[in-house]
Amino acid sequence: MLAGLGLAALAVAAEVRPPQDYLSPTLRAQQDDPSRHPGWLWVDEGEALWRRGDPSCQSCHGDIAGMAGVAARYPVVAQDGALLNLEGRIERCRMRHQGQPAIGYESEALLSLTTAVASRSRGLPMSVAVDGPAAAFLEQGRTLYETRQGQLNLACGQCHDDNAGRRLRGDVISNGLGTGFPAYRLEWNGVGSLHRRLRACQLGVRATQFELGAPEYTALELFLAHRARGLPVEAPGLRR
Ligand code: HEC
Ligand code: HEC
Repeated sequence: MLAGLGLAALAVAAEVRPPQDYLSPTLRAQQDDPSRHPGWLWVDEGEALWRRGDPSCQSCHGDIAGMAGVAARYPVVAQDGALLNLEGRIERCRMRHQGQPAIGYESEALLSLTTAVASRSRGLPMSVAVDGPAAAFLEQGRTLYETRQGQLNLACGQCHDDNAGRRLRGDVISNGLGTGFPAYRLEWNGVGSLHRRLRACQLGVRATQFELGAPEYTALELFLAHRARGLPVEAPGLRR
């Protein structure tokens, strides 16, 4: 009996479907149609920023088309041992290679650049490295994912594995992957980062939230990216 239950739980956890499978048909069609998806305005803005400044991103990296596949590999461990997501990587280029002050985590400029770079990986399969120096971050992320938290005392997986497909306050619960981020959320009336979404989930269970860009969220982001391995990048996603 118990063994049977264990197996059933494993089978549920193993089945991770892309976020687009949980969208309403209307939202999904809109997500697939750049002319009706406001997130692409951020892509346009990001591409303009890519060419601006001295030195510009373009002067080192060439056309932004060359960024294809990069978002599918992030977060990554940098040479100094820090785990960087795409936002963190871009912020570093700005500070170290452009000699500019940080733009700020949820700023329009950083969101635009991140969305523009991520959009170049649309449709490509997620494949983050989780060996070597990334292994410890993966475990940190896994622990955060599996630990019950907040006044509601719920772990991420109790919603995103055990109850995926069910409705909660007007939403259909997905597998809680980051592949659609940065995403345009109707409730936000704009594009927001994955960390902003994670803060909303922590608020939902009345847990203490981390800061945007916090290492805890970046570790969680790595774990979510690993869960999503093989699934396509959907950024910019379109959400309720
Ligand atoms: C002066 C040259 C220079 C400029 C300007 C620059 N970068 Fe970079 N960028 C680099 C180098 C070099 C790397 C490789 C990592 C390192 O050594 O820091 C890199 C790495 C990256 C990566 C990761 C690529 C990968 O394959 O992992 C991204 C994304 C990126 N830069 C985005 C940007 C953006 C966006 C801008 C403009 C805001 C920018 N960079 C400006 C030199 C530059
Ligand atoms: C009480 C249930 C609940 C808990 C617990 C919860 N979430 Fe969520 N989460 C939701 C709902 C509802 C949404 C919006 C619908 C959706 O996309 O799943 C959401 C959305 C998300 C999304 C965005 C998915 C997308 O494609 O738009 C991610 C990522 C996510 N959650 C991760 C997490 C993580 C990581 C945790 C643990 C720290 C967590 N969630 C805890 C209910 C929950």
